[in-house]
Amino acid sequence: MSERVDALLAKMTLAEKLGQIQQVNGCCAEHESLVRAGLVGSILNHADAAQGDYVEKAKRFQRIAVEESRLGIPLILGRDVIHGLRTILPIPLGQAASFDEALVEAGAAMAAREAAACGIHWTFAPMVDVARDPRWGRIAESCGEDPLVNARLGAAMVRGFQGADPAAPDRIAACAKHYVGYGAAESGRDYNSTWIPESLLRDVYLPPFRACTEAGALTVMSAFNDLNGVPTSGNALTLRRILKTEWGFDGFVVSDWASVAEMIVHGYCADGREAARAALTAGVDMEMVSTCLAEHVEALLEAGEVSLTQLDEAVGRILSVKERLGLFDNPCQGADEKLVLCSDEHRQTARAAARASCVLLKNEGGLLPLGAAGTVALVGPLAEASWDQLGCWVMDGKPEDTVTVRAALQEALGADRLRYAPGLETSRSTDKDGFAAAVAAAEEADVAVLVLGEEALLSGEAHCRAFLDLPGAQRGLVEAVVATGTPLVAVVMAGRPLVLTDLESCAQALLYAWHPGTMGGPALVDLLLGRAAPAGRLPVSMPQAVGQIPLYYACKNTGRPPREGGRGVPPGTPLDPEGFTSQHIDVDARPLYPFGFGLTYTTFVYGELELESAVLGPADSLEVCMRLSNTGAREGTEVVQLYIRDRVASLTRPVRELKDWQRVTLAPGASATVSFAVPVATLGFHNASMEYVVEPGEFDIWIGGDAASGVHGVFEVVAASR
Ligand code: GLC
Repeated sequence: MSERVDALLAKMTLAEKLGQIQQVNGCCAEHESLVRAGLVGSILNHADAAQGDYVEKAKRFQRIAVEESRLGIPLILGRDVIHGLRTILPIPLGQAASFDEALVEAGAAMAAREAAACGIHWTFAPMVDVARDPRWGRIAESCGEDPLVNARLGAAMVRGFQGADPAAPDRIAACAKHYVGYGAAESGRDYNSTWIPESLLRDVYLPPFRACTEAGALTVMSAFNDLNGVPTSGNALTLRRILKTEWGFDGFVVSDWASVAEMIVHGYCADGREAARAALTAGVDMEMVSTCLAEHVEALLEAGEVSLTQLDEAVGRILSVKERLGLFDNPCQGADEKLVLCSDEHRQTARAAARASCVLLKNEGGLLPLGAAGTVALVGPLAEASWDQLGCWVMDGKPEDTVTVRAALQEALGADRLRYAPGLETSRSTDKDGFAAAVAAAEEADVAVLVLGEEALLSGEAHCRAFLDLPGAQRGLVEAVVATGTPLVAVVMAGRPLVLTDLESCAQALLYAWHPGTMGGPALVDLLLGRAAPAGRLPVSMPQAVGQIPLYYACKNTGRPPREGGRGVPPGTPLDPEGFTSQHIDVDARPLYPFGFGLTYTTFVYGELELESAVLGPADSLEVCMRLSNTGAREGTEVVQLYIRDRVASLTRPVRELKDWQRVTLAPGASATVSFAVPVATLGFHNASMEYVVEPGEFDIWIGGDAASGVHGVFEVVAASR
């Protein structure tokens, strides 16, 4: 701790220390009195979009804290700025589809500028929970199923939020959440129990958090879920041992909303006193909204059940973060009215992010990009959905800022070339009265663009789905439009992978837009009209059926792996069971589209792998290159992915693991050598003794455009490393 923090700690009364570790929600008269008495360390949601009085309230409450409380300790003001404050970026799952760290960092930096201008010091992002279950509503906030993608893009968001100096007036503190394993909620039901063996925890769920702390994240948020029977907000193994001791994390841990008190509901603590003891002992430093610590730590201290050292550590960590944010020197840093929220510059950032997030899954006959002539029927409940286009976790975005697909297409084509008929009022509507107009529009047009999927409200926290089909009467709308014979481009907006097996079979083109944010309309029109080419890749596997879940590429081979190439089973129609292999009898074992998959408006060919050496020691790097060629007629960007497989190990290993990727842009007809250098030390895993090891033996390597393809090679690691 710094001298200032040590000096403050020495002066603080017990009541003031208990105040520092308390976060309250909102600014009200009661909280104003607590702030004046030095009994609050943080406020979340200090203002809201309705009032818009962020700066005024931030300044007023900060002045009370600094000028009217005994020690003048500034507040830290937090808010969920998950994918933008007023200018809304694509949902994080969509941003992950860009596989573009620089773009993601720029988006977070934009969000930080808008948040800091509103007097916010701290965002509860990035969420880096590896998510392998699209039934879980919060997959929308994650960077998908792969630990490396969550790690690299989560770290990019941390850099974007905090910058090189988080005390800068346009930067805010990041918060890696929800620590840890929250995305493994059983049956995809939010807040549900998680059972994760420690080796899997250390190989898959922890690495994204470690990457964020190594990127300098100032805070981490403990989660709601119980992990192997111990709630993560009272889990000494994950918090005190791994995060704070093994990794040396020197920021502070904030609990999730009342997750400390919820340990009583979990049946892990008998009352608030036990919850306070469990949380403080495990390593929670600040309690969000519930007040177990503030109410019970004094008695716990007197009973010797917690120590003053533990309390001082929590308070010291919080004061240190406030100091690193510059709040002691400039309590209202950054807050000013001058910044234009949703500026043209910020809109361009959001447009670029939305363009890069869209994944082209199908383009039969090169239907896309649309021709320069002809009429377009624009159909579907999400074609003019100002609010739903923004996605979940939008606290301050305004629908009136949204540029919808309809507005952007109208701007681009002019009224005479556009026929608009939503067909359905919302994604859940079952009223088919609008079908006739939609059919008429499609019949008149040369091509139909159908924008459908799920409303924003159907994804996000506590919004989990047991069915992943298109909700409402959307399938009927698809059938009605398809029956006209007009070529169909389907654009899907959703906060998760949906089951689109039927849609995929009848649409000539399929473009996945996630929830693309404020500028999703112009971004989609850029792609539909060919002003830019799609470059997104799937950060999650797309299932053929909800019954396949959990379905992810880095699965185990089992002793009886699924048949190669699937069996062409029509989903839902059981065939006579054949053989004895690990697959369902009513759907083949493959995803509809694999992790990493995505098309563009050109084609690429991968040359053979060239390994610098096929025999490697533990201190070596796997040096490999291959020639990538753009064999089409347009410039294009390929996300070149490198996967490995450890063929034989002391614990069974995944059939593939992503170890690196590069985005490569090539002019038509051009080629380039793409080189990778992957340290052998990164190819290991945690063995049964929880040691990180790289065991000797043969490895497969693939370099390709998704988790189901690629040019193949073999190399050997010749010595064990411990
Ligand atoms: C919510 C979420 C968490 C969020 C916090 C504050 O319940 O779980 O992600 O940051 O509460 O809003």
